[in-house]
Amino acid sequence: MTANSVNPRDYEAPAQLLAGHNVLVTGAGAGIGKAAAQTYAAYGATVILLGRTNNKLEAIYDSIEQADHPLPIIIELDMLTAARPDYLALSDNIAAELGCLHGLLHNAGILGERTPIQNADPQQWLDVMQVNVNAQMLLTQAMLPLMFEAERASIIFTSSGVGRRGRAYWGAYGVSKFATEGLMQTLAEELENTSQVRVNSLNPGRTRTAMRAAAYPAEDPATLPTAEDIMPAYLYLMGDDSIGVNGQALTAQ
Ligand SMILES: NC(=O)c1ccc[n+]([C@@H]2O[C@H](COP(=O)([O-])OP(=O)(O)OC[C@H]3O[C@@H](n4cnc5c(N)ncnc54)[C@H](OP(=O)(O)O)[C@@H]3O)[C@@H](O)[C@H]2O)c1
Repeated sequence: MTANSVNPRDYEAPAQLLAGHNVLVTGAGAGIGKAAAQTYAAYGATVILLGRTNNKLEAIYDSIEQADHPLPIIIELDMLTAARPDYLALSDNIAAELGCLHGLLHNAGILGERTPIQNADPQQWLDVMQVNVNAQMLLTQAMLPLMFEAERASIIFTSSGVGRRGRAYWGAYGVSKFATEGLMQTLAEELENTSQVRVNSLNPGRTRTAMRAAAYPAEDPATLPTAEDIMPAYLYLMGDDSIGVNGQALTAQ
């Protein structure tokens, strides 16, 4: 499945996989982003917790501190309204505090309305595209110089089943995930000769979070894997065992 034939779903990470690595996680306050931030910290990373709700980020900070993992950094940023100067200021902050960036997990996303394209609300469409696509491009652009300062770095984009095959009524969300795959593929090809920054996408699959509950209100959450269950693939792509894997669309389940 991957360049070095590891199945990301079965990956067993060494305890110090991310020791000395600086990793930025967007949407770190809840759901899959929360689990990824806590997991990356548990494997030794200094995690930059980016999100729009400060008290959620502070709770994650406290949990990481209590577990005696490397102290994270909180960045409160609303990716719906943030613009290029905000991302450049973030880059300056990280450069001053940490010097370089080894990992970037694009995880934050919004579901938006699910409705036929014919009825889609234009402003909601633009909002979903802003958070799920445009913000990822702006953040990537600002972070790349910091990633070239690291010896090896990994960018993970978060996809979805509806971003790999179109599905009726999934509207802007599904289209935004197709765009995410396009951004990943384009960037991966641009960077493949550098061998320094690898770029892949990961479809988490059905996972027990608030977004999943909003999309499938009649579903029993207890039947779903938790965000912690799908962390092997997130560790695999973030750590050095995935060096050489580039431009791949992977699945976490
Ligand atoms: N769960 C699934 O079954 C599933 C399946 C396929 C793909 N995915 C993808 O996996 C990723 C994580 O989803 P999830 O299920 O964990 O969703 P979630 O529980 O709704 O969490 C989404 C996270 O994104 C943050 N966020 C939303 N809008 C933001 C903004 N404007 N600025 C900054 N942060 C923002 C949220 O912050 P707040 O908590 O402050 O609102 C939250 O931390 C998403 O990209 C989603 O599309 C999920």
